[in-house]
Amino acid sequence: MSIKRLPPELINRIAAGEVVERPASALKELVENSLDAGANHVAVRLSAGGLELIEVTDDGSAMSPDEMGLAIERHATSKLPDETIDRITSFGFRGEALPSIASVSRFILESRVRGSDGWRIEIDHGERAGEGPAALPPGTRIRVERLFEKVPARRKFLRSPRSEYAACLDAVKRLAMARSDVGFTLDHDGRRILTLQPSDPPSRVAALLTHELDRHGIGIDCSRDGLRLTGVISLPTFNRGMADQQFLFVNARPVKDRVLVGALRAAYRDLIARDRHPIAALFLEVPLEEVDVNVHPAKTEVRFRDPASVRGLIVGGLRRALDEESQRSAAREQSAAPVMWTTSASYDANLDPLPIEAAEAPAFSGSVVAEAQKLFEHAPAARAEPAVQPVSRFPLGVARGQVAATYIVAEAEDGLVIVDQHAAHERLVLERMRAAREGGTIARQALLIPEVVELEEPECDRLEGAAAELADMGLDIERFGTTAMLVRAVPAALGKTDVPGLLADLAAEIAELGGPLSLRDKLDLVAATIACHGSVRAGRILSVAEMNALLREMEVTPRSGQCNHGRPTWVKLGHGEIEKLFGRK
Ligand SMILES: Nc1ncnc2c1ncn2[C@@H]1O[C@H](COP(=O)(O)OP(=O)(O)OP(=O)(O)O)[C@@H](O)[C@H]1O
Ligand SMILES: [Mg+2]
Repeated sequence: MSIKRLPPELINRIAAGEVVERPASALKELVENSLDAGANHVAVRLSAGGLELIEVTDDGSAMSPDEMGLAIERHATSKLPDETIDRITSFGFRGEALPSIASVSRFILESRVRGSDGWRIEIDHGERAGEGPAALPPGTRIRVERLFEKVPARRKFLRSPRSEYAACLDAVKRLAMARSDVGFTLDHDGRRILTLQPSDPPSRVAALLTHELDRHGIGIDCSRDGLRLTGVISLPTFNRGMADQQFLFVNARPVKDRVLVGALRAAYRDLIARDRHPIAALFLEVPLEEVDVNVHPAKTEVRFRDPASVRGLIVGGLRRALDEESQRSAAREQSAAPVMWTTSASYDANLDPLPIEAAEAPAFSGSVVAEAQKLFEHAPAARAEPAVQPVSRFPLGVARGQVAATYIVAEAEDGLVIVDQHAAHERLVLERMRAAREGGTIARQALLIPEVVELEEPECDRLEGAAAELADMGLDIERFGTTAMLVRAVPAALGKTDVPGLLADLAAEIAELGGPLSLRDKLDLVAATIACHGSVRAGRILSVAEMNALLREMEVTPRSGQCNHGRPTWVKLGHGEIEKLFGRK
């Protein structure tokens, strides 16, 4: 065996494999270079999703002909003046992008420093293919043609021009959000797609994310321990089937970092179904020494010195903002009804509790919740109101009846309220469990005969690993051989429950949560799973007293506007809207 040095073109191609996976990654590198060169305006032109042509033109500081020659050499960079990579503020620093791209395409670099003449260098798949004077305004223009045409291994993995274009658009959006002070244009196949004037971060984000966030977004601005988080997130009810509208930045660098994505997810933990995703643009500012950007060739991942504090800031900050907004709901927009259904934030859950006297009978008598109320000592007492109570006192009104054994219809001073009883109740059970847990008063119900639940071995491992946490929530389990668990007690809130079903759900939940979630986050998610098992099903007939009690409890319970899956729990049809329905207005 003999060891040989690789020829430089081959080294470049290997580097290209790391940095340039597809047109969008080449485009990202070029635009980053323009921004690093201090451009005020970046113009991008693409053909066939970037497969035929990627052209990036900037008005930045540009390069002299000598510098151009260096720029296309490997490991030549102007961006590490003191040759350390500890305090990087530029996008680039590896000196790898241009030679990599030039090794897998036909590459034309033109540049003109203000006050001098322009110059052009052409490279054909890593080989110099000519140079000469060029006419262009001050700045730099780079054309990348026929990317990967001679690299069949890479070409195979490319997708249709359409999806390559989508990835390019995404890359430009991310950089345009990162640098709202720079103007951008994007043309694809001769069509103008984006025109962005220099502006400020909120306007830039609004222009690139949906304008619906005007109504369904929550502004974020919080800081802690020298970290600052700003941006916008969507209300839980305004969610998507894909996580494609999440834009995360660390010190103005777009990243797809696991710590940040995980923290965003955790903040919405029980507000949104597991297969739904919030929309977000979040900008994290961290002292330079707290973050290492040199962990990934494309620099889309970073390493935090203290990931827990980053996570804490994000989860805590977003959670607080979401709680404050919790009474708002996007039900109106999700409803397909032709009239405006409002679920207005017409009251503030933080105002004084409503002056209602406790009724004697437990409101949910006969239901599992009645048992829960006996056992959760600090849970608010249930309250039932006779229907003669003045309507005006209650934001969610007075129950007038039940429809389809599923919805409660109530009359409020300003309209008609419809409540999804299962969704609402699930939320109340969860919030009660939380309050009880925080007060250390969670009640358990010992099973007369401990139940043996057969599960897969890994499921048992997971449950066993979480046994202490689960015990805190009233679920006492222990290992029972390789493939079974023994259940000795369940949370009293559950009453009679399908214990094997609960354990299977919890095992799945824990598997999903694995990773760097805090104990608190886990407990909350587990509580949500338990709450779902323990709440009033749709289809159960409720008495008027029970319905009113449910409404009253919703009024004083935080986050009661959404169920644990992010759907609204109630909607209100205002008087004005009812009048419109009947053509009176
Ligand atoms: N649009 C541009 N305007 C001015 N100078 C540029 C431009 N693009 C590249 N350069 C110069 O060429 C050099 C090499 O660029 P290249 O992208 O290959 O490396 P880098 O940006 O330094 O590091 P990285 O590989 O991490 O992107 C840069 O350091 C910069 O000096
Ligand atoms: Mg670069």
